[in-house]
Amino acid sequence: MRTSPVPVRTHHLDAVVVGAGGAGLYAALELKKDLGPDAQVAVLSKLYPSRSHTGAAQGGVCAALGNTEEDHWEWHWFDTVKGGDYLVDQDAAEVMCHDAVETIINLEHLGLPFNRTPEGLIDQRRFGGHTRNYGEGPVRRSCFAADRTGHAILHTLYQQCIKHDVTFYDEFAVLDLAMPNGPGGGVTGVIALELATSEIHSFRARAVLFATGGYGKMFKVTSNAHTLTGDGVAIAYRRGIPLEDMEMYQFHPTGMYKLGFLLSEAVRGEGGVLLNNDGERFMERYAPTMKDLASRDVVSRSIYQEVAAGRGIDGKDYIHLDVRHLGREILDKKLPDVTGFVRTYFKLEPLTDLIPIQPTAHYAMGGIPTDIDGRVLADEHNTVVSGFYAAGECACVSVHGGNRLGTNSLLDILVFGRRAGISMADYLRTAPEPERDVAGEATASAEVGELLRSADGERPAVIREQMQALMFEKCGVYRSEQLLTECRDELAALKQRAQSLLVQDKGCRYNTDLGEALELRYLLECAEACVASALARTESRGAHAREDYPERDDVNWLRHSLAFRDTAGGQPRLAYKPVTVTKFEPKPRVY
Ligand code: FUM
Repeated sequence: MRTSPVPVRTHHLDAVVVGAGGAGLYAALELKKDLGPDAQVAVLSKLYPSRSHTGAAQGGVCAALGNTEEDHWEWHWFDTVKGGDYLVDQDAAEVMCHDAVETIINLEHLGLPFNRTPEGLIDQRRFGGHTRNYGEGPVRRSCFAADRTGHAILHTLYQQCIKHDVTFYDEFAVLDLAMPNGPGGGVTGVIALELATSEIHSFRARAVLFATGGYGKMFKVTSNAHTLTGDGVAIAYRRGIPLEDMEMYQFHPTGMYKLGFLLSEAVRGEGGVLLNNDGERFMERYAPTMKDLASRDVVSRSIYQEVAAGRGIDGKDYIHLDVRHLGREILDKKLPDVTGFVRTYFKLEPLTDLIPIQPTAHYAMGGIPTDIDGRVLADEHNTVVSGFYAAGECACVSVHGGNRLGTNSLLDILVFGRRAGISMADYLRTAPEPERDVAGEATASAEVGELLRSADGERPAVIREQMQALMFEKCGVYRSEQLLTECRDELAALKQRAQSLLVQDKGCRYNTDLGEALELRYLLECAEACVASALARTESRGAHAREDYPERDDVNWLRHSLAFRDTAGGQPRLAYKPVTVTKFEPKPRVY
């Protein structure tokens, strides 16, 4: 057993990237390419990089290549804005959709093995909310590597990083940002826990990128891996940086019933359909044009409505995904992982059996506010935090607004991970030497030491389970003032209880008990900001569906929420900033 304070080891680098998913790896690669072989660029990850959650992304990454039918990046731009229920910053979405085409070609040149058309072009398939000619019907825009597209991206970028001599600190969990002079003084590195030894390391760096992923583990049923615990988001929040649009959390329509594991939207892109207990293809009633390929928020709500109307399967809270008509060739060649999951976890045969599904917590549209170059923004006036960048799911650019379209997440991490790397390289040419954050190191060290010495308190798993059930029930697909108020109060009580946690494992080698205590606290911070922002937003928009305010209210709510943490432990302070509308005026949203 170790007695606190835990010793701190120091490192001096040019840039630190936290997170080894697609956004982090692409940024690190660009940094190395721009700054040259002598640049000290390190990627810190609490996992071995090839286990990052990008690897779980299945169905594809979109770009208007027009390889299999006519398509234009402006159509993609419109779909993204409409999909996000007009909460999207349109200048940022323009950059993403325009740059998508070049990004895919670059990725192919880096070695990504996309599926091919018979003519040898990158193959493309349909996905929810992606349309031809501004909403006329589905278009094939998703580029894919079977249903393992994220896996292929992750391995391609990791190999490139190795080739370019990026330094990796695998199995290092970030504990804090070094910010010796507060948000106004900028970021000068990170403080991290080495999981193999429980030692604290201080990485001094002139620029830091958070690419730490999402926080789906705050919900009971989720497609997210155990590691998606909002570490970077919560750390930024604790350090006084606001969190943007945290109420916008996406539920993917087709999670495996009770398990939450993702069954890719590509299944419906390839022709799979949703059926209720009457065997009816009910999406025809809710979305006459796009049907099963309407945007995710629409499809998830439709499933809930079918269940509420008693048309869930056998009166229960799930419905069926039907792929029986797709045939063996499509399932084997284009959807091998998905069909494998169904066989392994449900012991069902997709060629002959119906698949039980329910909406599963999937993706955070909100997060750390950034501009289109990944620079973190400290307030509603868009003041830049010098030396601090964020990209990927932990960031809010905002290109997804109230609801992300499927395949835009892989695109987001690639476009904005790369842009962040380029802009960090620019910043580093003149950036000052980083100052040490002695107080930050001491605080991180003290928290770890305290947890390792804990003799009583509650087990993290108990509180985590209660938080996950609470968030799923009261801050899920449908919300109301009553549910959210109860959720806020119960969450505050859980947060209070989590101040005293019992870590039973007192060892220092791969102490997962310690890790889970830290992660629970991060999740509670994210949940707090999510619920406070959701309670305040008295309208329905995108994934935020209020039963007591069923309409979208552009007069009062066409604006981004910013949740600032209350340092005295109370509820967050909320501020707002306008949405950037450059081309597409908000219209009623029908599919
Ligand atoms: O359904 C899917 O394959 C998920 C893709 C995404 O979230 O972009």
